[in-house]
Amino acid sequence: MSQFDLIVIGAGPGGYVCAIRAAQLGLKVACVEGRDTLGGTCLNVGCIPSKALLHATHSLHEAHENFAKMGITVDHPTVDWAKMQGYKADVIGQNTKGIEFLFKKNKVTWLKGWATLPAAGQVKVGDDIHTAKAIVIATGSEPSSLPGVPVDEKIIVTSTGALALSAIPKSMVVIGAGVIGLEMGSVYARLGAEVTVVEYLDAITPGMDAEIAKAFQKLLQKQGIKFVLGAAVQGAEVTGDGAKVSYKLRKDDSAHDITADVVLVATGRKPYVAGLGLDALGVEMLPRGQVKTDDHFRTSVPGLYAIGDAISGPMLAHKAEDEGVAVAEIIAGKHGHVNYGVIPGVVYTTPEVASVGATEEQLKEQGRAYKVGKFSFMGNGRAKAVFQGEGMVKMLADKATDRILGCHIIGPAAGDLIHEVCVAMEFGASAEDLARTCHAHPTYSEAVREAALACGDGAIHA
Ligand code: NAI
Repeated sequence: MSQFDLIVIGAGPGGYVCAIRAAQLGLKVACVEGRDTLGGTCLNVGCIPSKALLHATHSLHEAHENFAKMGITVDHPTVDWAKMQGYKADVIGQNTKGIEFLFKKNKVTWLKGWATLPAAGQVKVGDDIHTAKAIVIATGSEPSSLPGVPVDEKIIVTSTGALALSAIPKSMVVIGAGVIGLEMGSVYARLGAEVTVVEYLDAITPGMDAEIAKAFQKLLQKQGIKFVLGAAVQGAEVTGDGAKVSYKLRKDDSAHDITADVVLVATGRKPYVAGLGLDALGVEMLPRGQVKTDDHFRTSVPGLYAIGDAISGPMLAHKAEDEGVAVAEIIAGKHGHVNYGVIPGVVYTTPEVASVGATEEQLKEQGRAYKVGKFSFMGNGRAKAVFQGEGMVKMLADKATDRILGCHIIGPAAGDLIHEVCVAMEFGASAEDLARTCHAHPTYSEAVREAALACGDGAIHA
């Protein structure tokens, strides 16, 4: 039995970041993790491996589509799936070992095993009971199941199975046009699979600015991805080598079937807190299964905190990381804080899609007076040079004060470009502040500046 100032349960982006920051602030910290490697879903079976496959298949797409246009001749590029999986495993390994190194460097003790909470202030791992002044639940989330769709992780898979298919499928049905469905759908479409996305709503990527979502859908369709929208999936079954998905169109209630080699279920995730013993401890939960917390990440049990996917808010690694830092600071007696109004969201397809702040729909709903500045990447020399002129930056600013309220980008490196807007918003900048900031030429960032200019006297290259 050991005693710590803080025990963090879970070593995903929320938990490991929390543990490191708390150790940096002088606390004696342990982090419990039952997987063989640190990093949680994100590093092992989520963000990082999917980005490896997205990069590999984007490179393949470039070789097929754009090399010849630039005068580069290669023999017909082919894919060695086992090697591509090996590359993905290497990337995972480098990252998970990196966290292990950071734990050692910061003197965070890794308690290997699965934790339970037998009593307030106690964490049980295996047969050992450890005590701590503060405990943080950072156990993340797991794919939520869909009634009538039995996952076997071979033919009917979640994102975890989709990252490690034994062979490249000829066809794939994706249930759910959210981030996971579109990222993994893109991977397999680029590898030659016929991909059909079946989505309950009438638009893809719920919550995204509608104009950007529409442009995004068009670009994905151009890449060969098919969409069946307004379709409620009723069930799926394995049929020999593949599977059959049944759905009903919401407009006329008509029933349809679609078959494919592989079915990916990507209809959301749910908090992963079962088995911790929260019930017995009397921890208050929210109706949708998250741990209830106050604005200091405190649960209803004194000394017990929770962050990340296990609590409410967007299920994003970077939101969890920021909460991890904030709760570590709070526990160490400082003033940790997360600005939920400035959390970017990124879809890592080609082109990337990124957003921060309010969508135009949200501003309309709030009855807020706003102005819109748009700039197409067609007017950006750098984007055209890399065959990525399609897409745009859309900036939303307050009509009276010019303060930036939101920004939505579809185009090259959108996931990186969004951060200058995040910083601007964090400082309460106006669109003019951003427009008056010198941007290097030729960069994709110039498109962000042009959209800011378009909120005022007008873009130069439009
Ligand atoms: P999601 O919530 O983003 O999308 C799920 C989609 O499935 C929705 O569009 C929903 O309308 C649809 N759906 C639900 N039930 C359905 C049914 N019966 N038939 C047809 N469609 C149905 O969930 P997703 O993509 O699984 O992602 C889970 C979480 O992981 C999200 O919070 C996401 O933000 C996060 N994530 C973030 C990534 C990123 O930031 N790049 C990458 C991967 C995941």
